[in-house]
Amino acid sequence: MMEPVYDQLLELAAPYLDTRDNDLHVRTARQFAERILEQVQADEDIVIPAILLHDLGWKMIPEELQSTAYGPVIQDPELNRKHEVEGVRLARDILQQVNYDPAKTKEILTIIDGHDSRPVALSVNDQIVKDADKLWRLSEKGFRLFQRTFGIPPMEFAEWFSQQVDRWFFTDAAKVIARQEIANRKAEVARNGSKGT
Ligand SMILES: [Fe+2]
Repeated sequence: MMEPVYDQLLELAAPYLDTRDNDLHVRTARQFAERILEQVQADEDIVIPAILLHDLGWKMIPEELQSTAYGPVIQDPELNRKHEVEGVRLARDILQQVNYDPAKTKEILTIIDGHDSRPVALSVNDQIVKDADKLWRLSEKGFRLFQRTFGIPPMEFAEWFSQQVDRWFFTDAAKVIARQEIANRKAEVARNGSKGT
């Protein structure tokens, strides 16, 4: 998990991740991906680069429009699609810069191309990327940012998330993590009331 090439990828990705809290999102999603990889047999050298590079396309979407292109109700699916297409272009460039294996690059780019818009997963690698990406929403910071961006009362939001677990997640490992995260968020909301959320 400490492959130097991952650090190189992250360094090259950094200028594109400083929008929409994506630097934090990507670091958190990577941790979730590593936890899933401990339990599910898959190609780490596909999954981790795909996670690190999947959201670079947001940098090409004006910040004031980003919240129309993701969230509980996507108002502008075309803009969401644009972040995938632009993300593939930027990720391809970065993978070429580090001379990443061409066959692996191809699979990584296919995963990035459909990470939001494609409801099915094409491989177990794709499943883990999709799962880790969505687990971010349930993390302490991800939940708070989402809840604030979309202005939904926190307990209602946590309850909505718990109804999405079976629909959203592919791997059993991710479902277990998701339920634990939701339980933690509910406990925090109960403890803090509306402050601190
Ligand atoms: Fe993402």
